[in-house]
Amino acid sequence: MKPPLLQRYQALLDLPAHTQIVSLHEGDTPLIPMPRLAQALGSGFELYVKYEGLNPTGSFKDRGMTAAISEAAGRGVQAVMCASTGNTAASAAAYAARAGMGAFVLIPQGKVAAGKLAGALAYGARVLQIEGSFDDALGLVVEASQRIPVALVNSLNPYRLQGQKTAAFEIIEALGRAPDWLCLPVGNAGNISAYWMGFVQYHQLHSSGLPALLGVQAAGAAPLVLGHAVEQPETVATAIRIGKPARGEQALAAAHESGGRIVTASDEAILAMQRQLAAEGVWVEPASAAGLAGLAAEVAAGRLDLGGKTVVAVCTGHGLKDPDIVTQEMLAPRVVPANLAALEKEIGDL
Ligand code: F0G
Repeated sequence: MKPPLLQRYQALLDLPAHTQIVSLHEGDTPLIPMPRLAQALGSGFELYVKYEGLNPTGSFKDRGMTAAISEAAGRGVQAVMCASTGNTAASAAAYAARAGMGAFVLIPQGKVAAGKLAGALAYGARVLQIEGSFDDALGLVVEASQRIPVALVNSLNPYRLQGQKTAAFEIIEALGRAPDWLCLPVGNAGNISAYWMGFVQYHQLHSSGLPALLGVQAAGAAPLVLGHAVEQPETVATAIRIGKPARGEQALAAAHESGGRIVTASDEAILAMQRQLAAEGVWVEPASAAGLAGLAAEVAAGRLDLGGKTVVAVCTGHGLKDPDIVTQEMLAPRVVPANLAALEKEIGDL
C-alpha cells in the first residue's frame, strides 16, 4: 500500500509543521485510456480520464480534505464547518470522523444528490439545509467560522488547494509529462486553481510541460463565462450549481495563463456525455461529465484542434453519488415476470 498522499508528496506541499496526517488512503486514482470516446470525438488524439470518483468518499475532495483536516488536527481543532453542494460535505464528514472531530455542513435545500447527503449523514456530520443556494451557505459559514471556534474547510482554506495539487503530480507521473490539454468542471473554482498550481510547480522542478486548461461551467451556472455573478444558478449538475465562485479570479487567471479558457456546456450535453462515458465503462456524476462535454463542443465548433495531442479529462465524482439522475432521466428498467419464457422473449435473438 502506498503511504498517505500528504506523506508521499510532503516535499511539494506547503503545509505547516504542526500538520498531523489524517488519511483514508486517498489519491493514487487511475488514469484510464478512452480510445472509443476519443474516436467518437473525432480528431486523432489520445484521451485519458483521471477517475477521481475512486477516492475514499467518491470524489476528488478527499485530496484537499486530508490536507485541511490534518492541518486543523495539528492545532487541536475540535470541529470543522463547510458549505457544500454535496461532495465537500461527505468528504469533510469522513475526515472529521477519522480525526475524532465534529463536522457541521450547510447544504442548499433540496439540491444535493442522494449519495452525497447519505455519505455526510453516515459519517456523522451535523447537516443543515439552508433556505438558499450554495453561495448563501458559503457566505454564512465564512461569517460563522469567524465567530465560533471551528475550522473552515471549503476551498477558501489554502490547505485544501495544497492537497488537490497532488492530482496534477499523479497525472504527470503517469504520462511522463503534462498532457497538452486538461479539461475539468468548474464550480467554486478551487480545483482548477489547484491543478494549475500543481502543474506549474512540477514544471519548475522537472520541466514536465504545462497543459492548456479547459474549465467548463454548466450553462445555467456560468458566472466566469458571463463575467458576472449568477443569482439563481440552475443545472442538472448540482455539484457545480454555483453562481459566485470563491476562487473565480484565480481560475480565470489560471485558464488564461495556461493558454486555455473557460467555456459552458448545456445540461443536455452534460447528460449525453455522462452516457457516453458510461458506455465505455466509466460512470461519473453529471458534473464530472461537464469537462468532456465542453471539450466535445469546442471540437465540434472547430475551436479546438486536438490532432496528435494528449488530453486528460478530470472526472471528479463517482456516478453512485447521484443515482437518481439515471433512474429519473433515463428509462426505468422493464418489469418482466419471473420465468424463463418471459426472459427469453425479452432477450429475443442475439
Ligand atoms: N465536480 C464535482 C463532482 C464537485 O463536487 C465539484 C465541487 C466540482 C466538480 C467543482 O470543483 O468547486 O473546485 O470548482 N463541489 C463543491 C462541493 C462545491 O461542495 O462539493 P470546484
